[in-house]
Amino acid sequence: MNFELTEEHIAVRDAAREFTQAELLPGVIDRDTEARFPKEQIQKMGELGFMGMMVDPKYNGGGMDTLSYVLAMEEISKIDASASVSMSVNNSLVCWGLEKYGTEEQKEKYLKPLATGEILGAFCLSEPEAGSDATSQRTEAKLEGDHYILNGTKNWITNGSSASVYLVIAQTDASKGHKGISTFIVEKGWEGFIIGKKEDKLGIRGSDTHSLMFNDVKVPVGNRIGEEGFGFSFAMETLNGGRIGIAAQALGIAAGAYELALAYSKERKAFGKPISQHQAIQFKLADMATQIEAARMLVYKAACIKDQGEDYAHASAMAKLYASEVAMNVTVEAVQVHGGYGYVKEYHVERLMRDAKITQIYEGTSEIQKIVISRNLLK
Ligand code: CAA
Repeated sequence: MNFELTEEHIAVRDAAREFTQAELLPGVIDRDTEARFPKEQIQKMGELGFMGMMVDPKYNGGGMDTLSYVLAMEEISKIDASASVSMSVNNSLVCWGLEKYGTEEQKEKYLKPLATGEILGAFCLSEPEAGSDATSQRTEAKLEGDHYILNGTKNWITNGSSASVYLVIAQTDASKGHKGISTFIVEKGWEGFIIGKKEDKLGIRGSDTHSLMFNDVKVPVGNRIGEEGFGFSFAMETLNGGRIGIAAQALGIAAGAYELALAYSKERKAFGKPISQHQAIQFKLADMATQIEAARMLVYKAACIKDQGEDYAHASAMAKLYASEVAMNVTVEAVQVHGGYGYVKEYHVERLMRDAKITQIYEGTSEIQKIVISRNLLK
């Protein structure tokens, strides 16, 4: 497998880096403190083509490969993981599924504006009693003539209030278990669709995470994605790709924290010399850099496997499992290298440490990744 980046890859990475420094770094601490969604910044990310990177240009997307998307996610996550989770959900969980399984009408109406970032999408699978156990969907959609009546509650939905289009997974035939689950496109503003409470989170505080309530919401049959009963497979397949995005986010968080720790260690003096000259710090830097490089290999490999059209469920779960562990380890060590300064907001590493934790939880906890990996090993 050749990880040599093409000129196009380098251009994407540099554009993301430039944007991040100019537009995301200023204000990132305030947005985190105030739990404020980076609305204008996400709009600009859309204008620059970051919100529908892999979508076919005929649906207004960038037509890029997964490795380009991973490179952009990595750069953006170094600075602002709240912005990158919005980007990841829009690209991998919403645009991807719509492009792969949506009808031409659905693509015209929803995918085109989603791919340009003109509107945002959300992916609604988790429920109060169905997190890891995603087959236990309580939200139900009952067919009545030419529409479904949707009832239920979704939890922890990224882009919860900022999205305009929601992919909602719901039970259409409870007697069939996971084969009785379907996916629907629901628009913000439809009668009975209520945006519930905003979560006050440990990390990714700029991301707007909400519960959503559906009370007798009328959804046209034409807004179902795929056949009835296809919803669980749809969600699982979508998450296989989503996990590459979150693995890239975790990699970026780790790399961002490491870069800050490295720079700080060269400036900060203790016992008469820069702390980078003390072996205690050198060993930490060496461990951090090695773990990041190993995570990067897994993440890029998962992206390349997907781009080659091979089965990537296993590779994406491995990448997410490992990169999220690395994000946690490296950010904790980056705070340690900074000493007391690392514990205050101004130095950024405490935010990255808080942001890192969610990468071990969303789009499947680390334990879920191990289930996916071990099932593949044993099948
Ligand atoms: N890829 C493709 N298909 C898969 C799959 C995968 N990774 N995992 C399971 N499936 C398929 C199985 O092959 C099986 O299909 P068949 O019936 O056709 O054989 C079907 O799904 C049911 O699978 P299981 O019998 O294995 O179901 P299970 O209930 O034992 O376990 C699970 C499934 C892997 C634990 C699954 O429930 C899961 O992935 N849970 C985690 C859910 C999750 O990641 N939630 C994240 C929410 S989204 C989010 O966080 C977005 C955000 O806002 C950031």
